[in-house]
Amino acid sequence: MESTITAAAEFQVGELDRRIFGGFAEHLGRCVYEGMYDPGSLLSDEQGYRRDVLSALKRLEMPVMRYPGGNFVSCYDWRDGVGPKENRPKRVDYAWGSIESNQFGVDEFMPWCRKLGTEPIMAINLGTLGTTEAAQLLEYCNLPKGTYWADQRVKNGHADPYKIKYWCLGNEMDGPWQAGHVPAHHYALRANASSRMMKGLDSSIETIVCGSCTNTLPTYLDWDRTVLQDCWETIDYVSAHRYSSNEKNESPEFLAEGINIDRVLADYSAVIDYVRGVRKSKKKVYVCFDEWNVWYRQRDGSSEWVEAPHILEEIYNLEDALVVAQYLNAFIRRADLVKIACIAQIVNVIAPIMTSKNALVLQTIFHPFEMIVQHSGDRALKLVVTCPTYAAGKLGEAPTLDAAGTYCTRTGRVMLSVVNRSMTDAQDVTLRLLDRKPTSISFASQTTGDDLKAANTFDNPNAVTPSPVKAVIEGAAIRISLPKTSHAVVVVETAGR
Ligand code: AHR
Repeated sequence: MESTITAAAEFQVGELDRRIFGGFAEHLGRCVYEGMYDPGSLLSDEQGYRRDVLSALKRLEMPVMRYPGGNFVSCYDWRDGVGPKENRPKRVDYAWGSIESNQFGVDEFMPWCRKLGTEPIMAINLGTLGTTEAAQLLEYCNLPKGTYWADQRVKNGHADPYKIKYWCLGNEMDGPWQAGHVPAHHYALRANASSRMMKGLDSSIETIVCGSCTNTLPTYLDWDRTVLQDCWETIDYVSAHRYSSNEKNESPEFLAEGINIDRVLADYSAVIDYVRGVRKSKKKVYVCFDEWNVWYRQRDGSSEWVEAPHILEEIYNLEDALVVAQYLNAFIRRADLVKIACIAQIVNVIAPIMTSKNALVLQTIFHPFEMIVQHSGDRALKLVVTCPTYAAGKLGEAPTLDAAGTYCTRTGRVMLSVVNRSMTDAQDVTLRLLDRKPTSISFASQTTGDDLKAANTFDNPNAVTPSPVKAVIEGAAIRISLPKTSHAVVVVETAGR
């Protein structure tokens, strides 16, 4: 098959916000305990943080990290997780049917963020707690000293305020499963009041209102319209969540998931524009896509009420990695709309990294994320893609290619991230750069394989790992040979024409 991708450094969607490469850590299963934090383990540092997890995460260069949930946060009292560890209560975690030891809280999370080099996105409980507790948490984290909660932080050994900038106003409050779920208008009252009060305490913060958590709920977009209308003046972002599934093992359709992701982004663009129009506002509200991934195999919480149960430990395969690449491609394509995104989650729980007591495995989905994050430039490009189509089940005829490109204004480097969705055919892709001359290929790597269901496990950790992809300069163009079912990242050094 032959395909063409045409790009120009001048044809830009806009600035690429690196916060789209964020992560999400929830008190859930073995994400925090035995994942991020494992005191006593030979693999942990003196503060109990798993060094191998930090090293692997550093390769993913996540600029932001959402915490502490997720569904967990809607029953969580942050005050249980601060102060002397021996005084912290064990609590039931209603969201996931487990026990929360509270040995890790905001004062353990913040040093961990610093070690990783990431900025926190703190979620507040707007399910079972409210504006008062949220404002107290903000005071604890961000105010210098001289008031009760700020002084508690100082007393707990943290003299300097954390200056947390991003705040999620609850989690998935449209979901009937969410503790404290209420209709949109009711939630909007809570969110608006909290955002107003929190910004009154610290005007430097930015807030994220809960949008729809899935487009399968009947309230999809009506929820978003209502909360945006009610909270427009006090918030900065609306959240979106999506988890992709191949439950029925319909891989041709699953591999075209980028179409569904683009659709959701178009919906958000529309609802934000609608509210802006109705309000005759000049203000910009952006999408914070703060939970996304493939997730369908390990859906259930625990029923055993234990600490750190082995739940949501999804094992990812090659086709999942190809879908993960399409999420990032879609966010790059809509760099004008999506300013923050967080893969859910980071370790053990639906995550690119798995740990055991003495080892760590990089799952298949780690590889496209690493390749894209490490090679993206600061501008998202508008690509024109011409390629064959294939039958993608309910999605009809789908393009065989899913592509995104970036340009680096400092180096002149062009990065192409491209998925060949075809399960049968390799593709020869010609990349044409209209206003730059290709001088060399500095990176060309792919994630691919013969078996779509191949996965990395502790017994076979390298079943799916990156390999070189053939990419050569031919005159003014670059020719890339993509195997069937592959994701490639190609970096082209360029000079002005
Ligand atoms: O990431 C797992 C769960 O998915 C989160 O707790 C929740 O917000 C979503 O439904």
